[in-house]
Amino acid sequence: MRILIIGSGGREHALTWKLSQRPDVTEIFVAPGNGGTAGIATNVDIKDSDIPALVAFAREKAVDLVVPGPELPLTLGVVDAMKEAGIPCFGPVAACARLEGSKAFAKEVMHAAGVPTAAAGVFTSRADADAFVAAHGAPLVIKADGLAAGKGVIVAMTDEEVKNALDLMFDNRAFGDAGSTVLIEEFLKGEEVSLLCFCDGKTALPLPSAQDHKAVFDGDKGPNTGGMGAYSPAPVLPDDRLDAMADIVARPILAEMARRGTPFTGILYAGLMMTADGPKVLEYNVRFGDPECQPLLMRLKNDLADVMTACIEGRLDAMKLDIEDRSALGVVLTSAGYPGSYPKGMPISGIDEAESLDDVQVFQAGTRREGERILANGGRVLCVTALGRDLREAQKKAYEGLDHLSMEHSQFRSDIGLKGLKRLGLA
Ligand code: AMP
Ligand code: GLY
Repeated sequence: MRILIIGSGGREHALTWKLSQRPDVTEIFVAPGNGGTAGIATNVDIKDSDIPALVAFAREKAVDLVVPGPELPLTLGVVDAMKEAGIPCFGPVAACARLEGSKAFAKEVMHAAGVPTAAAGVFTSRADADAFVAAHGAPLVIKADGLAAGKGVIVAMTDEEVKNALDLMFDNRAFGDAGSTVLIEEFLKGEEVSLLCFCDGKTALPLPSAQDHKAVFDGDKGPNTGGMGAYSPAPVLPDDRLDAMADIVARPILAEMARRGTPFTGILYAGLMMTADGPKVLEYNVRFGDPECQPLLMRLKNDLADVMTACIEGRLDAMKLDIEDRSALGVVLTSAGYPGSYPKGMPISGIDEAESLDDVQVFQAGTRREGERILANGGRVLCVTALGRDLREAQKKAYEGLDHLSMEHSQFRSDIGLKGLKRLGLA
């Protein structure tokens, strides 16, 4: 089997690591890949957004399975294009990827499907937005409609912050066209958790819950990032509630997308707020989360290509996910300054030592290989991920792994998993 993975983050290194365990896999290509994927697969210098070049490459190499990691190629129609070329590709078609690509579209589908979510108004004019704000008042959450690399959401606790957020989106056009339509949402209180489901158009199979840490500093302080660490399971959404939760937040979306003639295939990721009034969907992603993917794949015992193929062929109803009982936790190491500007090129040492610990993997993200050396090449540099008997042991092992690493100008959060431990009464 020959596989093409699209993307260059820690998620893509984890996908490469997992898929490479399949005995009949002869070759894995990663476009464009990173320093970690270069060690176990062949990096190919094609951008994740260059759909024609990706299709041409997959054809030329007679690839049997394409796995896009990030949202951009999905919203650009990579699955549609691969399908047309007769190449199996795991993920949603562009019409379904809009669930992530347009927050207004996602709201409309949630309403049609009866999925609980924050009340929201959708605005294309500043005057209408101002009138809505005058009627409701802070706290409110201001969201750019389109893709904004995780930065298009502003939680505004005061009227002043609401005004600044609207200035940024409408007047300064900080998010370009992505911000020409703006959602203003009710502010929800609660603990956040992610539910990811494999989907084949009709059936949704939930993975265990995961919790991301979006803020850059300990205690959820500082600006939001792509994710500073994650663990699974999250005690706020235990295993015995996964199926009921999928009935509320995933299966109605599958039914609605099928009714519209565009069945949803791939990963449907529901970002949830567990409020006093029950779970509410904050957003949908149409792919694995990064870094949630890293701990989740360490727990998945199935052959990943088998599950993905069952999704593509509509056979998921005959599949059962086999999940490791142990917990998994990943800590992201970033370059200092991220998510603002940050230095690059620092050498990273100790990766082999960290990986020599039992059940510890170092998934690389913003790295590149120069001869034998691994150099920092991005904001999020790597994610040390470990399995442990329970959340506390997984946390201890991940931080032990991190202790073996050294890189100048680095930073990480020291409290990954803390909310889960508190909920378990262990912290
Ligand atoms: P999103 O990309 O929509 O998930 O938003 C990014 C982050 O903003 C979420 O992970 C939450 O922390 C926060 N957020 C989004 N929507 C709301 C909301 N309605 N109430 C409170 N916080 C929110
Ligand atoms: N970690 C959140 C995301 O991948 O969108």
